[in-house]
Amino acid sequence: MQFVGKVYRPWMEANSVLIQTTLGCSINTCTFCTMFDDKRFKVRDIEDVFADIEQTRRMYPVVKSIFLIDGNVLAARTDFLLKVIDKIKHTFPELEHLAMYSGLNDFRRKSVSELVELKQAGLDTAYSGLESGDEVVLKRIKKHLTPSQAVEGALMAKEAGIEVLQSFIFGLGGRYRSQQHIEATVDLLNQMQPEQIAPMALAVQPGSELEREVNAGEFVLPTEMQLLEEEKYLLENMNFNTVYWGDHGNNMIQMRGMFPESKPFFLKHVNEAIAKKPGAQENVIQTFAW
Ligand SMILES: C[S@@+](CC[C@H](N)C(=O)[O-])C[C@H]1O[C@@H](n2cnc3c(N)ncnc32)[C@H](O)[C@@H]1O
Ligand code: SF4
Repeated sequence: MQFVGKVYRPWMEANSVLIQTTLGCSINTCTFCTMFDDKRFKVRDIEDVFADIEQTRRMYPVVKSIFLIDGNVLAARTDFLLKVIDKIKHTFPELEHLAMYSGLNDFRRKSVSELVELKQAGLDTAYSGLESGDEVVLKRIKKHLTPSQAVEGALMAKEAGIEVLQSFIFGLGGRYRSQQHIEATVDLLNQMQPEQIAPMALAVQPGSELEREVNAGEFVLPTEMQLLEEEKYLLENMNFNTVYWGDHGNNMIQMRGMFPESKPFFLKHVNEAIAKKPGAQENVIQTFAW
């Protein structure tokens, strides 16, 4: 099985078999993201996807979990995706979990009945990026997503019964828009009510447009204290039940659990970290490329 270009999967899918169904990302403009900058978006030939599925069957006697890559597989046509999912379900009758990456706008580009068909075929979870609920930040990062589109997409997925794991980025408002960024993000999350969330600390990726902006002084990185204050605001103001995957390797505190059950425990850790006054107020966050 030959993967084309750089390959990414969410860390929660570490035990999943990966099937490359599309190549790249159909947006590919987000200023912070270099995940798929090495290829143009393309839907793979279905025969090639089927060949990979059959080869996977020969390689693994038991496959419980599959994650479809690359960046936003849901951008592919519904009839193509249904054929791929059908092939997967017939090839791996023991399968328990099937997920993919999807932009929030990709839900909107389908009808709810198409999404229901995908859910009934076997797609249970989609990993989407919100990044920020702040319109100014969304424009600045060139996400091609508005706050109202984000809510609409998320609610369509919910109506169809597809679980959404929603990622977003602490620090994406920079030094001077931290408060607006987190307030608008929490407000939007409260409307979207994703079943799972993954708040991730901003990483300045080498070669990204964001890196150029940082070097040119157009984007001023937030302080460590601001990142902690953003997480504290999130925990204190989120009003829905969700799975909290705050344990990405770049986050200042790694915390994972059910929300709100773990809220007191999470807040205790954040407040302790804030009390230590990390790196003094003036220090910028340390970021690690991935
Ligand atoms: C493949 S995308 C998610 C699916 C889809 N492409 C989208 O953006 O909606 C992976 C996610 O990882 C996170 N991510 C990517 N680059 C990042 C960076 N430099 N710093 C922090 N988070 C990042 C973002 O939340 C992004 O949405
Ligand atoms: S964050 Fe998602 S939509 Fe944006 S460029 Fe990266 S993969 Fe594409």
